Parts: sequence; C-alpha cells; structure tokens
Amino acid sequence: MTRQMIIATTLEELRSARLLLDGPVGFVPTMGFLHAGHISLVRRARDECKSVVVSIFVNPTQFGPNEDLSKYPRDLDRDLRLLEEAGADLVWTPTPEVMYPPGFQTWVEVQEMTQPLEGAQRPGHFLGVTTVVAKLFNAVQPTKAYFGQKDAQQAAVIRQMVRDLNFPIEIVVCPIVREPDGLAMSSRNVYLDTEQRKAATVLYRALSAAKDAYEKGERDAEKLRRMMKEVIEREPLAQMQYVSCADYDTLQELDKVTGKILLSMAVFIGKTRLIDNFVLG
Ligand code: PAJ
Repeated sequence: MTRQMIIATTLEELRSARLLLDGPVGFVPTMGFLHAGHISLVRRARDECKSVVVSIFVNPTQFGPNEDLSKYPRDLDRDLRLLEEAGADLVWTPTPEVMYPPGFQTWVEVQEMTQPLEGAQRPGHFLGVTTVVAKLFNAVQPTKAYFGQKDAQQAAVIRQMVRDLNFPIEIVVCPIVREPDGLAMSSRNVYLDTEQRKAATVLYRALSAAKDAYEKGERDAEKLRRMMKEVIEREPLAQMQYVSCADYDTLQELDKVTGKILLSMAVFIGKTRLIDNFVLG
C-alpha cells in the first residue's frame, strides 16, 4: 500500500489531518534544512509509532537580535523529499503568523535549567524554544516526541517542561549523528568554508581528549575543562565561547566528577557558532 504524505500549513489543516492518524503518534519538531541527524529522529519515530508527524518551522522567538534568523538555511522542497523517503505521514509547515498571531502574549518558561550553558550565552533562547514546543505539542498532540542529544540542554529543558506542565507525552532523546571525521551534523555546518570545515573538527577532538583522560581515571572536572580549552586554543580558526563539565541531570558545573556527566562546549569557527557534547559515566 502506498501512503500519501500530507502537508499542512494552517492549524485547521493540521488538525483535520491529525484526526485521521492512527496512534501511537510520534512527533519530530525541526527548523528544517534537514540532515541525517534529523532523519535519524524520523526513522526512530517510524520504528516506534504507528504514525509520524514532523514540523518545519524556523522559530523567530528563539533567535537573539544578533543571531542568524534571517540567513538560517532553508530548502523546503528538499526537506519534503527526505521526509517522504523516511516515511513521515504528516508534515506541518506553519508560518510565523500561524504560530504568533497578532496580539500573542503567552510564554512558557522553565526557570532554573535554562540558566547555565546555552542559556547564559543566548538570553531568551530557551523561552522561545519552550514556548514554541509547547504550542507544537498542543497542536500535534503526539504520544512520543523525539529530540537529539546534540542539543543536550534543550532536551533536558523540554523534559522538565513536560513534567512540570503534565504534557502526556514521552520524550525520547536520540544519539548525535556525526560526519565521518567526528563533526556533529548541523544545519549550520553549511556556513563553513573548506578551511573552516576542517577546523570545525576541533569540538570533537577536544571532547575526545577529555574523554580519554576520563577513561584513564581523571576525575578533576577543572582539569577536564582545561584540557578541552587547550585543544580549542591550539586551533587558530576557533574561538571558544564556553567549555563545561557538568552534572548530567542538573547541568551544574562540577568540581569532582561523579556519576553521569555532560561535557559540552560552544565554539565559534569564524562567524559560525557550533555546539557539541559527550555524555560520560
Ligand atoms: P533543529 O536545530 O532543526 O533540530 C531539530 C532536532 O534535531 C533537535 O531535537 C536536534 O537536537 C536534532 N538534531 C540536530 N542535529 C542532530 C544530530 N547531529 N544528531 C541527532 N540529532 C540532531 O532544535 C531545534 O531545531 C529547535 O530548537 C526546535 C526543537 C525545533 C524548536 O524550534
């Protein structure tokens, strides 16, 4: 039987298409310009659920005033082809007017977990993320929603929001998909020129150096942070924004490493801001 992938733009179109889907319904929210990382989430949803919904929406409220909203890469035709191939049933591509109609004034805020790491560097970012994801959840009403470990803090924040607001949705976090040389796949990687693309492996190299030390028994968090910093400083095209060795659950910086930890970092390669992380322990 051949299935027809449905494309919805308005809320009404989304709702009438959603009513026809059999459960459990898996949902993958994205900002488009899809790569193998996004597609891994769609395939996981396909494996675990009867129906799969994907949203494509470049959410303006999660971009800061000096960030890349206006030049964020887009290619809807290509995205739709990839989603059809991966077995999506319904793709929702709302416009900014659908998500933020005139007079919009309601926000969803996770207070503590949004403070460190990405939250400290990108004020207001998570307020935009949680607000749009809550709206997407309300419209799509999925059984399960799929997020990537690539955005480790985002996944933690969404889990917290779902607990706090009683969303009846299971959050599934999927592993980071990487290029053969270790660079984590990201829609923003297209901003890199050839030389920058080579330098961009510095995030993976720095994380790997700290992981090696951890595996040899290093438990001093400051030493692990310093080690990552040193690898980044040796790369002339890289400018470190932060490196972190934090508790996996609370995202608080550690002195001494115990239990499950998150090594993470944000690094500028030219004007392109890249993030990556490893989970250890
Ligand atoms: P976007 O950056 O498009 O990412 C959509 C999902 O794909 C996120 O859950 C992200 O963690 C995951 N992802 C990205 N790169 C990945 C990789 N290399 N391996 C595995 N998963 C990867 O994250 C967002 O959009 C937005 O903030 C969104 C949640 C859609 C809200 O606007």
